[in-house]
Amino acid sequence: MAQLATIQDIAQFADSEVTLRGWLYNKTDKGRLKFLQIRDGTGIVQGVVFQKDVSAACFENAERLTQESALVVTGTVRQDDRAPGGYELGISDIEIVQIAEEYPITPKEHGIEFLMENRHLWLRSSQQWAIMRVRATVIRAIRDWLDDHGFMLVDAPILTPSSCEGTTTLFETEYFGEKAYLTQSGQLYNEATCAAFGKVYCFGPTFRAEKSKTRRHLIEFWMVEPEIAYATLDDIMDVEEQFVSYIVGRCLEERAEELKTLERDTQPLETIQPPFARISYNDAIALLDKSDDPLPWGEDFGAPHETHVASQFDKPVFVHRYPAQCKAFYMEADPDDPRLSLSVDLLAPEGYGEIIGGGQRTASLELLEQRLREHNLPREPFAWYLDMRRYGSVPHAGFGLGVERTVTWICGIHHIRETIAFPRTLGRIYP
Ligand code: 4AD
Ligand code: MG
Repeated sequence: MAQLATIQDIAQFADSEVTLRGWLYNKTDKGRLKFLQIRDGTGIVQGVVFQKDVSAACFENAERLTQESALVVTGTVRQDDRAPGGYELGISDIEIVQIAEEYPITPKEHGIEFLMENRHLWLRSSQQWAIMRVRATVIRAIRDWLDDHGFMLVDAPILTPSSCEGTTTLFETEYFGEKAYLTQSGQLYNEATCAAFGKVYCFGPTFRAEKSKTRRHLIEFWMVEPEIAYATLDDIMDVEEQFVSYIVGRCLEERAEELKTLERDTQPLETIQPPFARISYNDAIALLDKSDDPLPWGEDFGAPHETHVASQFDKPVFVHRYPAQCKAFYMEADPDDPRLSLSVDLLAPEGYGEIIGGGQRTASLELLEQRLREHNLPREPFAWYLDMRRYGSVPHAGFGLGVERTVTWICGIHHIRETIAFPRTLGRIYP
């Protein structure tokens, strides 16, 4: 009896007979010899059907198979250095589960709109498959690192009464007669839970009605947000560089095949180890002054500015102490220059832009109330948040890492839309 196996474990079955359950990825017909590319979700293997070795019924089944037909095949695993993955299957039996209709995504090139329209099928293509496997490892690494370093998972609500990251990108909904918004960030809740549990993180989907189409923005994206009581700006930079280095390392270790499928040059990733350079916003402005894209002091970076600053470094670079005017209301003021905030962004190398935003939070009730006024934010929805400054206020800091930005960078791909199974982008909610 053949054993049921998966393609990712195929090496363990060399010279024995296995059964695989999957789909036909592609077929090459050489008359009496047919090469079937079979995928089962865990990988792709080449199956060989040789007319003289199989029954007439089996050979006929091999003829009938169309792209993406569902099949159960049995055969002998053979080591073969010429085969992709190093093993192939000498097929002895094919059971057809379903003959697929003419499949819309063929090995030829397709336009992006067509692929997005068929995202539910596009996910089966080897590049998309590889990206999603890297994503799963990034998420696993995030959880492992935080769980192993004393952070407790305390998730934040999705439906909220207030904005965290500015009122221009809010998704509004109605909550039993009251206004509510889809969360932009779990940070405000983290600030409450870190006072209850010390080191916490929340990890979930966040929503921003970003009105611009860029290759770095999604409408719905996943963010992991650690928050630490008694931590300062410098402390979270230490945490971030270890955290990011660990995530990259896990991908290199566990997803080498996938990164190869994506033709990712992994050399720049191999160097990602602490420490990362730390420059101030003022230093970054000075760098930009010498570039083609100078930036007036006080403004936040756009993509070209991030790219230029990051291009001066091989590893991710921290930019800290942005002017308070270009950051959110909750940032602690810099005691050395109150125009500045104790904020920090982490910019990825190779032009991938900001992957983390964070900083030290305002500990003083007076300053926080003043900031709410300056940002024209209503007081009522933030009343509970102000309580943290009334009852045992301490310095605390945290950050948010965008999963999809991180996956885009690690995979070395052009556009963020390929890093989530069903991307929500400007104007698209299908499929
Ligand atoms: O810099 P942001 O807006 O920071 C916050 O939301 C903080 N409240 C987080 C915190 O301190 N707890 O967003 C953090 C990260 C960005 O660096 C980026 O990686 C990602 O979230 N991000 C997006 N990713 C995809 N599409 C978008 N529209 C994104 N907006 C932010
Ligand atoms: Mg940011």
